[in-house]
Amino acid sequence: MSSDLEFLSHDEIEAHAPALRADQLFLSIVVPTRNEADNIEPLLGRLRASLPARTFEVIFVDDSDDGTDLIIRKLGAQVVDAQIALVHRDGAERVGGLGGAVAEGLRVARAPWVCVMDADLQHPPEAVANLVARAKEDDVDIVVGSRFCADQATGLEVFGPVRTALSKVSAAAASLLFPRHLRKVTDPMSGFFMVRRKAVDVGALRPQGFKILLEILVRHPKLRPTEVPFEFAERLNGQTKASPREALRYLRQVLNLRFSGGPARFGRFGLVGISGLAVNTLVLALFSDVAGVWYLASAVLATQVSTLWNFALTEKWVFRGGTPRLGLAGRLTAFFAMNNVALLLRVPLLWVLVSGIGANHLVANVFSLLVLSVLRFGLSDSWIWSPRTEERLFNYDIHGIVTIASEGRLPELARFRVDAPIADPTITVRLGRLAERGVAAQELDGLTQLHYVEKFGNLGFGARFELGERSDITATPVLRWSPHVLYTNIVEPVLRWTFVQKGYALVHAACLSEGENAFLITARTDTGKTTTALKTLDQLPFSFLSDDLTLVTPDGRALTYPKPLTISRHTVSAVNTPQLTRTERLKLIVQSRLHSKSGRLFGLIIAKTGLPAATMNAYVQALVPPPKFQVDYLVPHAPVIPEANLRGMAIIQRDGDEGYEVLEHEEALTILLENCEDAYGFPPYPVIKHWLHSRNGLDLATKEREIITQALSGASTQLLRSPDRNWHRMFPEMVRRSVDASDSTQVREIAA
Ligand code: GDD
Ligand code: MN
Repeated sequence: MSSDLEFLSHDEIEAHAPALRADQLFLSIVVPTRNEADNIEPLLGRLRASLPARTFEVIFVDDSDDGTDLIIRKLGAQVVDAQIALVHRDGAERVGGLGGAVAEGLRVARAPWVCVMDADLQHPPEAVANLVARAKEDDVDIVVGSRFCADQATGLEVFGPVRTALSKVSAAAASLLFPRHLRKVTDPMSGFFMVRRKAVDVGALRPQGFKILLEILVRHPKLRPTEVPFEFAERLNGQTKASPREALRYLRQVLNLRFSGGPARFGRFGLVGISGLAVNTLVLALFSDVAGVWYLASAVLATQVSTLWNFALTEKWVFRGGTPRLGLAGRLTAFFAMNNVALLLRVPLLWVLVSGIGANHLVANVFSLLVLSVLRFGLSDSWIWSPRTEERLFNYDIHGIVTIASEGRLPELARFRVDAPIADPTITVRLGRLAERGVAAQELDGLTQLHYVEKFGNLGFGARFELGERSDITATPVLRWSPHVLYTNIVEPVLRWTFVQKGYALVHAACLSEGENAFLITARTDTGKTTTALKTLDQLPFSFLSDDLTLVTPDGRALTYPKPLTISRHTVSAVNTPQLTRTERLKLIVQSRLHSKSGRLFGLIIAKTGLPAATMNAYVQALVPPPKFQVDYLVPHAPVIPEANLRGMAIIQRDGDEGYEVLEHEEALTILLENCEDAYGFPPYPVIKHWLHSRNGLDLATKEREIITQALSGASTQLLRSPDRNWHRMFPEMVRRSVDASDSTQVREIAA
């Protein structure tokens, strides 16, 4: 009788004490088990083979009668590179079945992320790493392993046609009933997902059997979800515990969840609907019979009046209290739109029921009314009257050198995101309306004020900068919807010079390392830096520091600056197994077009003509965000490391015959700085750059040059020419030459 958590540790370690400390763990894997005796060993083996040692714990929550718990105990005690734990529940303790077991696992999990997966190897253990990669990405709370979102078939056939159909229908029904909660999730029935532990309030869960994910999503509407495709495999040993009983449990669970604001609320909604019918009939009679209006026109009028009636009551009575997300006008419009669409839908629905399947027309009528009421309630509850989510600040801490607190998301800095509020941020970013127009700057003591606001004022691109020891930026509200523009065109330029102020330089170069040795790769924008870096990482044992910008220090170190990589369809084919979903691939076709070299060129030409280029850019990027992915997502096996010693810099170039050339530092530096300017070419940079680096009597440009000179002093600088873009093949040779060169300097130094 033990439903307590038991840590299964290696012999030498005291029994019942965890072998791995909580702060060593990145991931807790929760595995519910019911009679899975023969699956435990292969599951543990494959998990340990595919995840980094000593970063995860596996928590089995076991409801078995076949001795699965004994096997877990035996095997768990042999494992040293992970922490194995067991909660065994006997008879009466087995509340909530599978879902209850998962909830129990969530309760005892210690790592920041919790992955839930089945024991029967239908969820391939190797896919956990893909979920992990996704979780490291910007701003998500839950990563769903989906059977439906991939390019190709994902092993659905495993279930056979009947259960597959049931599975799809129940997924579709759930999406209809919870349109907002599930808007980004194609597979809410999945039993394979990974969630930020602190984002789930386990106490709020009332698990009932299988569909725990759906419950988590519905009860936590603020969770930011994303999906990763995976291939559903055959069950290895034993048999499934799915049953008709589970299906019924699922139905009950869905209804409970949907009407949990109280069946009372749905009841009120229904009553309002019925009262609306009465109003509708009355108004129809008044118009047609009393005033003699044509009956169809009367019907249309009557519907509008009753909709207004329904709206008023729904507003004041059904969804009273709370602050809805939409404004009054928004709610009214949405409600009218919804009711009129519902009206239109009833006709085909009736037709299908009566002519299609031969239902009695009166029964069909009531049925259609009921179905549409449920849907209308779903929409009202989760969209029209859904509560406003609070505004949050996005906080970033870049290597402890610069901190940022921003009202707008800065997706490029996702990996520097911290949860705790920042006391005295180096840079504060606000979103708000600006009174200024055009471009102007002035110096007050210790502070440079500057604004750049394009035509259209607050409806377009605009920013006001107050630059000093601490800087304040206010950007126009539209930039909330264009976070990449907010970062790239407003924050990043300020960051560059803030780093210089602090004694660091943010240079335009990718950076990879081999062991302790870091190598920069610099080039003009769109030459092939990203592809070179990706291919190298894919094929050779290099680590990743950055892809676009690298922070370098005067004492010769390179610090990681892991922005997501902007990729094209081209880049994707450079690597082996990028984990893109079907939607992501489709989107990439459009995104690649727009955010390609020619797309950017077009933008620059627009800028020259004096059109509001930054505004256009902001709008385009709000509609079609650039295709950006974290490196782990493209090459999951490549480690991302915080820093390494700068040993070399490769300048890659397309013209000339293929070959290497050693460059003088001075010359290399000049090219690197040109490349930096090239990276910052887009408006408003050319107009504001002078103020950024020459403010308050500072000369940050000179200082930056000095920092880079010192940073590169121990590095070998080489030109890699390749008309066929073979730089990734040349790179290892360049690395070898750099290491040789620095070894020989060291020898010379010793000799001298
Ligand atoms: N602790 C506990 N208690 N575990 C259970 C129970 C229970 O009552 N019932 C099932 N499990 C465990 C099984 O041992 C297995 O590890 C996992 O939960 C999934 O059970 P299966 O019986 O293999 O379910 P399935 O393969 O039919 O359904 C799976 O795939 C569906 C589609 O993705 C589950 O993951 C479903 O949740 C999922 O919807
Ligand atoms: Mn299964």
